[in-house]
Amino acid sequence: MKIVMLGAPGAGKGTQAAKLSLQYAIPQISTGKIFRDHIKNQTTLGKNIEEFINKGLFVPDELTLDVVLNRIRKEDCLNGYILDGFPRNIQQAIALKENQGEMDFVLNISVQDELIIDRMKYRRFCPSCGRNYHMLHLPPKKENICDYCGHELTIRKDDKEETVKRRLLVYHEQTQPLIEYYQKQNLLFTIDGTQKVQDVFDHLLALIGE
Ligand code: AP5
Ligand code: MG
Repeated sequence: MKIVMLGAPGAGKGTQAAKLSLQYAIPQISTGKIFRDHIKNQTTLGKNIEEFINKGLFVPDELTLDVVLNRIRKEDCLNGYILDGFPRNIQQAIALKENQGEMDFVLNISVQDELIIDRMKYRRFCPSCGRNYHMLHLPPKKENICDYCGHELTIRKDDKEETVKRRLLVYHEQTQPLIEYYQKQNLLFTIDGTQKVQDVFDHLLALIGE
């Protein structure tokens, strides 16, 4: 099963992709997480992309495609995968189709911009395992500590309000056209992302089926 998660920054792609990954036992491939790990480890790629990410701009396509297509070729992707944050523009979607054929589901999580700015203010993330929390709606059991790996939670550098606003602009300009692109291919399912996390998830399960 090949799934693409589509949606604005902060729409809940990562939150839902993590739950789907457990449910269907297929890997969640988050380009944002892969990039943040490279930055944390200060690899050559990490050094090259740090500025783009911190400014809320896209990483150049050739670097992104290289990372994603190599990841998809790994053995754990044989039964499928969930792409969380890729493709993000038409060129990436075309490259994905050329390389992997048609996707099974494109799940578009829809949330209006004002709510997103508010969500990002309260997001905390685990730099070790990449899990996301929301201080009000999805808090960790122990204050500021990841439920899964015990690491201290932190705030993403690109979650500053002005950077979130730039990410939203980039999303509307470059990613939103993918909604029509996938609609035309009859692959798009739009879900109201303003519902509770579990309600969004139940809707996704109902759409995908067993
Ligand atoms: P990436 O990490 O993918 O960031 P993003 O798309 O901006 O999305 P986010 O991860 O911020 O949000 P999300 O939709 O996953 O929401 P989440 O579940 O965390 O990318 C980061 C950067 O990497 C990009 O800006 C770009 O520079 C680069 N990049 C990545 N992919 C690229 C590509 N393909 N091409 C080029 N560059 C690329 O939820 C958000 C918050 O809300 C959390 O606090 C969560 O707990 C909470 N929440 C979630 N659902 C709900 C709900 N239903 N109700 C209440 N709260 C909720
Ligand atoms: Mg995410």
